[in-house]
Amino acid sequence: MRKSAEELRSRRWFGGDDVRAFGHRSRAKQMGYATSDFADKPVIGIINTWSDLTTCHSHFRTRAEEVKRGVWQAGGFAVELPAMPVNETFMKPSPMLYRNFLAMETEELLRSQPIDGVVLMGGCDKTTPGLLMGAISMNLPAIYLPAGPMLRGNWNGQVLGSGSDVWKYWAEKRAGNISDCEWLELEDGIARSPGHCMTMGTASTMTSMAETLGMTLPGAASIPAVDANHSRMASACGRRIVEMTWEDLKPSDILTTAAFENAITADMAIGGSTNAIIHLVALAGRAGIKLDLTKFDDISRHTPMIANLRPSGEYLMEDFYYAGGLKALLKEIGDLLNLDCLTVNGKTLGENVQTARVTNSEVIRSINRPVSARGGTAVLYGNIAPDGAVIKPTAADPRLLQHLGRAVVFEDYEQMLARIDDDDLAVDETSVLVLQNAGPLGGPGMPEWGMLPIPKKLLAKGVRDMVRISDARMSGTAYGACVLHVSPESFIGGPLALVRDGDLIELDMSQRKLDLQLSDEEISRRRAAWKPQPPRYARGYGALYAAHVKQANEGCDFDFLERVTETAEPATE
Ligand code: FES
Repeated sequence: MRKSAEELRSRRWFGGDDVRAFGHRSRAKQMGYATSDFADKPVIGIINTWSDLTTCHSHFRTRAEEVKRGVWQAGGFAVELPAMPVNETFMKPSPMLYRNFLAMETEELLRSQPIDGVVLMGGCDKTTPGLLMGAISMNLPAIYLPAGPMLRGNWNGQVLGSGSDVWKYWAEKRAGNISDCEWLELEDGIARSPGHCMTMGTASTMTSMAETLGMTLPGAASIPAVDANHSRMASACGRRIVEMTWEDLKPSDILTTAAFENAITADMAIGGSTNAIIHLVALAGRAGIKLDLTKFDDISRHTPMIANLRPSGEYLMEDFYYAGGLKALLKEIGDLLNLDCLTVNGKTLGENVQTARVTNSEVIRSINRPVSARGGTAVLYGNIAPDGAVIKPTAADPRLLQHLGRAVVFEDYEQMLARIDDDDLAVDETSVLVLQNAGPLGGPGMPEWGMLPIPKKLLAKGVRDMVRISDARMSGTAYGACVLHVSPESFIGGPLALVRDGDLIELDMSQRKLDLQLSDEEISRRRAAWKPQPPRYARGYGALYAAHVKQANEGCDFDFLERVTETAEPATE
């Protein structure tokens, strides 16, 4: 049923004869707008996460104008709203600390102002879940506009991928195989256009999740940021959100359990970032849907990974786009998806991918010739991780997926940095590197420290992968036999806090097992002796975060932000 102008939410601000409405209209006119610019038109918010330090979104000022063009064309009233530009590169201690901040800001920007529909502009890792979490909670018509990946990196005739090749060549530099001069050349070549990381890291994974969930226009997640098609996508978002507002098509109409199952399936097929698990659990929580970690593992077991993209494969997002992009991949795995799910263009996922085709079967493999027979992420349980941990087996040395080794324990990140290259560190290639106090509260903010560096003396021997265990996350562009998100985290006394140097740890991927080989009595004895550290923050946002953040297996949302009830509209009188 199409909405009437009288039913627009913004009418409560702009309609009526009272003094408040007079104020709202006169202040719109202060900006040079005539009554005909806004009267009886949907007010479309454009939430823009641009900043000079959000390098992945450096094209967003232009894109926002292109969204506005579409909004005006379709008969809407466009207003741009800047929001917390959570960026992966510069924000410390971890942008993850601020994902929920962006989610809260998004929700309250929309609630407190005369907005009828919204285009969300993000892409750099945490911006996609942050913006969507807020929009889901507010539940106004919303379209997500992904920033798009940057172009392929280039150095010395070789293609470079964000993150993945940084870790790779950093290890070579530490091993003495790359000169300072070559390292500088790499710095010049690895990030050479606007756009987010162009490996299948967290950014590409989460924008692909947004598209699979049905929250973007078809094809939006794969278009490189600087391609003219990206500009056209921006103005198309502007046009469509106006129509969506009249149709009153909201996130709650789109984000069903089936849509989230589609997202998990796509996550496995693209070899997505381990971070996607945390974000999808949080997004589902906002939609009132509980996603258990076992669901990810179940879907992983019967979903082949068919995207041949780094860090699990060979190619980059630009190649993925030319090969047909996410639409073509979704069509290829169509038998594993719920194709009836509704999307923001008013059509089903199945209708949207119907005409897509793979144009390079090396980049997007067929379901019968996958890169890996199983999905890109697995969930482990055991006495170190009673509430679960995750690993990306497709990006690990397969020999390490069945491993028994002695722990080398670092109590925190600083201690790890100080000791890892010490010649006297008792470590060899069979050791298991353990990092404690790097989780949601311990990090704080669960930094991407989980790909612990290989000790220099082992690098010199040619070792490039080891089993590593932590309650941290790792970059979606990172790789290796890294067990992450151990829950509950060590900072609150999870069993990871009880591991000591020399303890035997078993990783058994086939059984999905992660075990500390220690008697229950010894574990109990150590638990009784464990002493908590003081909280990381005494005041401010950090203290709010610490008081309310949930553990990794629960999505790290704030307990008071999950959907329990609707929030009332503000009074406008
Ligand atoms: Fe923004 Fe990687 S730094 S996506």
